[in-house]
Amino acid sequence: MAKAEHLNPTGSYKDRIAAATMAAALTAGRRGWIGTSSGNGGAAMAAHGQRAGLPGFICVPSDAPVEKLASIRPYGVEMVAMSTMGPVVMAELGRIAEQENLQLTITTHVHNPEGMHGAQGIGTELAAIGGITHVYVPVGGGGLLVATAAGLRSGGSDAIVVACQPAGCAPVARHLAGELPEPIVSRCDTDVSGLQLPEPPDGPAAAEAVRASGGWGTTMSDEMVWQAQDLLATSEGIFVEPAAAVSLAAVAEDVRTGRLGPDDRPCVVLSGNGLKDLRRFTKPASPAEITTIADLAGRVSDYLAIAQRKGTL
Ligand SMILES: Cc1ncc(COP(=O)(O)O)c(C=O)c1O
Repeated sequence: MAKAEHLNPTGSYKDRIAAATMAAALTAGRRGWIGTSSGNGGAAMAAHGQRAGLPGFICVPSDAPVEKLASIRPYGVEMVAMSTMGPVVMAELGRIAEQENLQLTITTHVHNPEGMHGAQGIGTELAAIGGITHVYVPVGGGGLLVATAAGLRSGGSDAIVVACQPAGCAPVARHLAGELPEPIVSRCDTDVSGLQLPEPPDGPAAAEAVRASGGWGTTMSDEMVWQAQDLLATSEGIFVEPAAAVSLAAVAEDVRTGRLGPDDRPCVVLSGNGLKDLRRFTKPASPAEITTIADLAGRVSDYLAIAQRKGTL
């Protein structure tokens, strides 16, 4: 089973957080908002912020996927690219927010608890479906997992919560496995955008929520993430970004290691849309081979012949 959060208005579960954040900002009489984002949170805050009539200022990593940054631009908020991100930048934004009466929109419980409340709906909606034994959640800063777990509990579900992280940046999963005293690593070595946080602000709370559910952390190589992304697209017609495919890759890994059995009913949280990160699918020159009208019929019949040989037709 899958929770299709990639179908939210700006393409990720962050819309839920942005709606709650802007409601809180209006209630508190803020004159605008400020935050960091790897891209999804920025687009969501920008859209919901403009709807609320609140101007926004967003700090993004300079190496974020171009699609993520481009999808923030239409809303006309101020965007600056930072050479480094992390706790120091977040603390400085907190200070500025306080001084300037701005809403701090960082999507973690540590910085924005009222906004994160919006993501609990993922858990309560899954609890209402019933019968789900495990919920597989991608983990970057840890806030999505904490909110999902809280929603599951408040909806009466006792599903096991699994923290899914790429092995190249897995502070929470490795801490849960007893490898690290704290959910902190010195650097990240993964290409999965959105999950590159060596010091996840909600890491300790995420680890606690996993433990309370009887869950664990599962890690996988980036290559396994790409395979899961491809599998979902080619078998179900569902295109998610790598950060979301991490949850399916974790299910595959847990089936392989026997942690999941045939009687289990796992659900993966598909947190973001594939259109947010097309780096694996765009070539610099041209997205598809150029063909003339004269060649077209021949190309189609070649394709059909190959498909028939492969048994896909
Ligand atoms: C698509 C997607 N999935 C998962 C996550 C991880 O959420 P969190 O940082 O709350 O752990 C993010 C974070 O940006 C994301 O953009």
